[in-house]
This record gives sequence, structure tokens and C-alpha cells, in this order.
Amino acid sequence: MSHCPRSKGLQLAAAAVLVAFSGASALAQRPARPEVLKGPWNDKTMSPDRRADLIMEQMTLDEKFTLVHGTGGFESSGARSNGGAGVVAGIPRLGLPDLQLADSAVGVRAAAGRGRYATLLPSSIGEAATWDLKLAYKYGALIGRELRDQQYNVSLGGGMDLMREPRNGRNFEYLGEDPVLAGKMGAQFVRGLQSQNVIGDVKHYAFNDQETGSSIGNVQLDKRTMRETDMLAFEIAVTEGQPGMVMCSYNKVNGDWACENDYLLNAVLKKAWGFQGFVISDWGATHSTAKAANAGLDNEEADGRFFGDALKKAVEAGEVPMARINDMVHRILRTEFAAGIVDDPPRGRVVDPFAGADVSQDIAEQASVLLKNSGGQLPLKAAGLKSIAVIGSHADTSVLSGGGSAQVDPPGDLPKAGWGGAVWFPSSPLKAIGAKAPKAKVVFDAGTDLAAAAGVAKAADVAIVFVSQHTSEGRDLPTLTLPDKQDDLVGAVAAANPHTIVVLETGGPAAMPWIAKVSAAIEVWYPGIRGGEALANILFGDVNPSGKLPVSFAVSDADLPHLAIPGMDLQRPPAAAANGERRRMPDFNIDYTEGLKVGYKWFDAEGKEPLFAFGHGLSYTSFAYSGLKAAMDSVSVTVRNTGKREGAEIVQIYAALPAAAKEPPKRLVAWDKIRLAPGEQKTVTLPVDPKFLSIFNEQKDGWELLPGEYKFFAGGSSRNTPLSAVVTK
Ligand code: BGC
Repeated sequence: MSHCPRSKGLQLAAAAVLVAFSGASALAQRPARPEVLKGPWNDKTMSPDRRADLIMEQMTLDEKFTLVHGTGGFESSGARSNGGAGVVAGIPRLGLPDLQLADSAVGVRAAAGRGRYATLLPSSIGEAATWDLKLAYKYGALIGRELRDQQYNVSLGGGMDLMREPRNGRNFEYLGEDPVLAGKMGAQFVRGLQSQNVIGDVKHYAFNDQETGSSIGNVQLDKRTMRETDMLAFEIAVTEGQPGMVMCSYNKVNGDWACENDYLLNAVLKKAWGFQGFVISDWGATHSTAKAANAGLDNEEADGRFFGDALKKAVEAGEVPMARINDMVHRILRTEFAAGIVDDPPRGRVVDPFAGADVSQDIAEQASVLLKNSGGQLPLKAAGLKSIAVIGSHADTSVLSGGGSAQVDPPGDLPKAGWGGAVWFPSSPLKAIGAKAPKAKVVFDAGTDLAAAAGVAKAADVAIVFVSQHTSEGRDLPTLTLPDKQDDLVGAVAAANPHTIVVLETGGPAAMPWIAKVSAAIEVWYPGIRGGEALANILFGDVNPSGKLPVSFAVSDADLPHLAIPGMDLQRPPAAAANGERRRMPDFNIDYTEGLKVGYKWFDAEGKEPLFAFGHGLSYTSFAYSGLKAAMDSVSVTVRNTGKREGAEIVQIYAALPAAAKEPPKRLVAWDKIRLAPGEQKTVTLPVDPKFLSIFNEQKDGWELLPGEYKFFAGGSSRNTPLSAVVTK
């Protein structure tokens, strides 16, 4: 763990700035580039496809083969490496740059090792909790800008596997459990990112929904379930976001590795969705040469084990047609031209930590979800408070971040926790709370001794107890129960103080056996570099919370589709599980027995009451719904702010399909976020995409809008829909 007071963090960020400046002068001293052949492909008015064709005419066979694989992960790319996860060698004589690939799910990874700084944004699940397409764009644009600042031209962000398994260690990198929400948010993330002339990516395609045996498990499910769940999220992101790249995943799907899966790559991604970009493998997820190449993989990462010499030989042997190699190369080149990385290569610049922090705070304020607020406990009124107890989870100095390849380095500091370890960022909730209530005595207790914590809570007017759940790539949570006996801590604090507010910093859902005993609870996810400040603004009412859950919170593991994560019992002990070792688990199947019933659809269909429903989130004001009018292609509804302060409501429209569709009870089909002054009302008209009312017909291999009765519901959460209207098609 690295605890760094904010002031020190900023000094270090400033130091990083200086280092980056000296790096820039070192760049200036590099030997001059070889002469670049100019040609008609430099004409920016031509289409990316035409430019790709023209430049390919100049390329030798060997040059073509260099583009279809990486040169080694991280620093193993040698002098070419910019410190990112990979490099694809460019062709300098033709003016084609190296592709510099950087992990960048919640900010650019691994900056500190090169003396750089990158902004930590709230986790992607928090981004999804804003339900705000413009914010998703802004989130992507910030990452795109900081990638360029650090001379990367390709992002490895854009995680969007659905949250089928709430204990998946990577849920914090993903966009929740609903395919339409995840797809639409993912599309805007990509558009924002690519607006900065960087190649964007969506990953991990597909069904890489758990970390347990993630590179071994064979996911089994039928085509209808495939297309209506995770693949629908990818379909929306690919068709609306137009990412340059799609990363295929580690796992097998119906018997074939995802990176050599003809159905996933050729039949659906490229043919049905018309994807024009290129498919890259996750790091080490390529398992063959001819099979993968013919199934649609365009670029092997991180090296050329299968797509280097072996691919040349496969072409010579007639196992892979040369036309396929040309297709791979064309896809890569047209993407480079379309993204602007050839015409406008990143020149390198110092990241602006202050601008980044402002964006991060804005998103954190809108990502936080107020789960419970009894008796108007929140917002706190500073004037009436003499003392505040702040307890647990390093809330004196820091906020938590998620681990693995989405790990951002804390300012000026290499994470000391090792790969996948908990890394805390210098944003102090304690200080931010103290600044809001300058006259109150604000006391911190680490929460390690229950009696001491209860004593501090008892002596204060209000107790704010922080609980956290670290998650990371590489391992799942065994349970929804919070680790380290934190439930006991909340219980002890709540017993000592009737005004207990719980702040959750988690990667996804957590069980809350104490929820009835506390007066308020707020989910801030991993809230980013200004998490403490964003939280204080919400606690004291400077910001009215508007986030809504993009996932369902179950009461306990017993209510989930799988009592335990498939394969967890087959795992090696943690000591042996570090990276390569996890690949040595025996082969096993992951049966998606819940089928179409993912997330809230499971709770609805099974008649189970969630702890907090998908779409739930409170505000400091209240909203009333009226006048629902529904047609097959649009729904309009009036929302009025019936409270005393301005606030934003995320209006949600769900639809129940005709009984013949045999679908779960309802699905999200549209939403909007509207800001209303007290007493103000607005009527919003939301278009409904017919695909979101359709089912996937396996026999016809297409989407089908069935005749019959469609019931539309409008409200503020999946379990709070006061209005409904029936439309017959
Ligand atoms: C992860 C990817 C990541 C890649 C490169 C893999 O382990 O699954 O999300 O982009 O590593 O770091």
C-alpha cells in the first residue's frame, strides 16, 4: 500500500512533469528518421480504405507480416517500447508509426515507471452508474488525451463484458449487467477516446465474465443467449462507437478459443455487424496459426509466436490464403488512417494533472449512488455538527483503486503492492469532510479495534464508516460478504451511534447484513483521484446525488444464479496462482445456466427481492412521474421535481415482451437523465430502438420483432415503475 498525502502527491506529480520535460528533450536528440516515401496515400481527403489499398501496393511481404503481431509485452519490446503493454512495429520508410498500446481502462496504466503521471478516473462501473452518455464520452476523451500526451496511439481500454457474476474480480472495469446500458456507454467511451486521434478498443470479446480459470474455462451457451446478452453490448458498442479494435478474450466459447472462434469473429463481428477494424488477441490468448487466422484474428499479442514465422509458413503451405493476410493488413492500415494516427501522430506533452482531476471529480460526483437515506440523514448540515467520527478503510489519507492491467499508478509513485495488490490513492475523505465542517471536531479511527471504533462513534454526533472491497484482474471474490470482518465494524459503529452513514468503496455489489441498522449508505465504487472531495460534496449537499445502480445488489450469495463461481474449487492455492500458474488448472466448463436471466432479469424471473435493484439510486429531492405515452418506436413521460432542491433524475423505460417471446419479465429499452429545478417538470420523448424489443431467432439467424402486446414501464428504478402502458404490435 502506498499512502501519500495529497500535497506530497501533487509535488510528485510536478516532479513527474519535470522528468517528462527532460524526456521530451531526449526525444529531440534522437537520430533523424530515415527518409519517408511520400505517396498518394498521404492525401487526407481519400477514404481510409483507399489509402490503405494504395500504401499496401508499396509494401513487401515481410513488411505486411510485421503488422500482424506484437514485438513482446511491456519492456520486452526493447528500445521500441514506450512502457505500455505492447508494440506493433511500424514501417518507417512508408511513414507508418509503431503502434504503442497502453492499458487504459480507468486511466493510463504504468505511467510512474517512466516518470509520468496519469489521472485515475472513477472505475468504469461508476462511469456506468452515471447513465450519462456525455460523461462516458468525456471519460474516453480524457483517457485519449492522456494517452497521446504519453505518446501512445492505441488504447487497450473499453472493457465491457457484462456483469453476470457479481464476484468477478474485473467488474470494476466493466459497464454493468445490462447490454443496452453497457453498449451505449461503451460506444460513447470509444467515440470520446477516438476523438483524440487514438485507436480505441473494446474488450474482452466475449463472455470473459469471471477471472476464475479465465484463460481455461469453456463457456457454454446457446446462440440466442449469446446474441441477446453480452454480444448485444458489443454489437451496440461496435456499430455505434466504431472502435478501431476489438480484443478477443482468453476463454473458450462453445468449445473454441475466443481468438479462433469463427462464429464470434467472422460470422458475427465482421459479417453481421460490419466491423471494419482489426481483432487483436488478449495477451497470450492466441492458440493457433491457421485456425486463428482463418477464424478472423488479425493481430496476435503480445508477440509473434503464432503470427510470426509460423504464419508465413502457413501461407506458403496453403493453409491460410494470402488474401486473408492482405485483409488483416488492410484492416490495420485503414484503422490507422481512420484514427488519424498517421496524419497526426502524438507528439508527447506533459499530462495536466489538475484538468484530469477536475474531470475525475465531476464523474465521481455523478457516479456515486445514494443507496439509503433514512429520515433525511443526508445531506449533513455542518452548522449543527459539533463532532464527526470518520472510521475505517484508510479514510484519513486515501481512496482505493482496482488492480491488474487496469491499475493506474498513484502520483509519482510505483505501486508497491505488486501485481493485483491493493493500491490506495492520495485523496483524503477525512480532510475533505473536515473542510466542509470547519467548526466540528473530526476524529479518525482506523477501524481495526471494534471497541475503539465504537467509542469514537459514540462520542460523535455522526459516524461515517468506510468499508472497502479490493478487486483485481486475476482473481474473483469468493463471496459478496465484505472481507476483514468489516460487517462487524459497521455493526459495532451502528450500535454505538444512531446516525451512522456507510460509504462503500467496492468493485461491484457487496452484501450488507447491517443495512437496516444504519441511517444512510452510499456506494462510491473506486472513486478516482478526487474521490474524497467528491464524496464530501455529496455528504454535505453541495452536490445532489444522481447515480443509479448499473448492477443489482443481491442480499447474499444464496440469491445468485451460481452459489459458487464455476471452477473456483479447481483453482490452485493463491501462492501458485500467480499468472502462468493459473493456466494450469484442469479444463472445465462454465455453463451459463441462467441463460437470458442476467442481472435484474434473474431477480425478476425468479421472484427474488434484491438488496438494491438495478437502476436504484436516491436523490436529495423527489420526482413524480405522469403522462406515460407509448408507441413501438418511442415513449414519452413527464417528470416533475416535487422536492425543494435542484436535482437530476435518470428516467428509465423498461419493456415486457409478448408472452410468446419467452423472455424474462422486463428489459431496459431507453433512459434519459434530466435536470430539474424545484417544482419544474419536463416531458421527455425517448426513441426506442426496435432491436431492443426484439428477440434473436436462431433458426432465422436474425432479430425478430414478434407480434403481440408490449408493456412499457416508466420509473426511477427497475423495481420502481409507477407507470405502465400497453402497445399492441
Ligand atoms: C488483460 C487485458 C490487457 C492485457 C495487456 C491481459 O491480461 O486481460 O485486459 O489489456 O493483459 O496488459
